[in-house]
Amino acid sequence: MKTLVRVIYSVILGIEMAALTGCAGTAAAEIRGKTSRAAVAEPETLPGSFQEASEPFASTQDIMQETDGDKNKKVLVVYFSCTGTTRTLAQYAAQILGGDLYEIVPQELYTEADLAYYTGGRADQEQNDESVRPQISGSVEQMDSYGTIVLAYPIWHGQAPRIVSTFLENYDFSGKTILPFCTSHSSGIGSSAENLHGLCSDSVIWLDGKRFESQTSRAEMETWLESQLGDGNER
Ligand SMILES: Cc1cc2nc3c(=O)[nH]c(=O)nc-3n(C[C@H](O)[C@H](O)[C@H](O)COP(=O)(O)O)c2cc1C
Repeated sequence: MKTLVRVIYSVILGIEMAALTGCAGTAAAEIRGKTSRAAVAEPETLPGSFQEASEPFASTQDIMQETDGDKNKKVLVVYFSCTGTTRTLAQYAAQILGGDLYEIVPQELYTEADLAYYTGGRADQEQNDESVRPQISGSVEQMDSYGTIVLAYPIWHGQAPRIVSTFLENYDFSGKTILPFCTSHSSGIGSSAENLHGLCSDSVIWLDGKRFESQTSRAEMETWLESQLGDGNER
């Protein structure tokens, strides 16, 4: 009987040992797993943590660069003028904004006869056909460096001269701000600016334009530009 009890006791002890060994094995695997995960994880974690920390930092940097880039983008004052009225105001605008000035020069210059309106001359004919695109001599270098375009033109038969359409169709103004203004004998800006807007891509930020008379002062131009574009700090 004693022998039987000893045998049973040994069997029970054996089962417990086996069970313990199994647990230990599992526990060791878990520790190894943890260790190995930690060992592998550490280098992963460091760059990961670094990336996580650096990701927002990198984004912020990007945003700052973009913002700075936009801020650094220059202003270009583009104008078309045959008798000088629009040129004077465009020059004011460029001085006030510290921008570059670009004159749209036709490949074929307009003569006095061409400009005599309601005579059926060249300008009249062009304005009567909205598909006409008079060619431009020269081009804007590095249009990409400009973020804001001030676009100045005279009113011809209630619209911008067709050559202004040629100019707008020659470049990609995506993402740029365009601020139009015009001069005229008496007509308002009317639908001229909206029709020009229609020639640009959807992503152009097209601001409300204004018609100026020939006697407009530099101070009046400055007040208007500030109202449309803000002062230098906002641009
Ligand atoms: C062909 C032609 C058509 C014109 N049509 C108009 C017009 O519809 N309404 C108006 O008020 N002035 C009209 N004008 C006058 C000009 O808009 C005005 O003189 C303008 O200030 C000229 O600008 P610039 O000196 O920069 O060329 C026209 C001038 C020309 C040459």
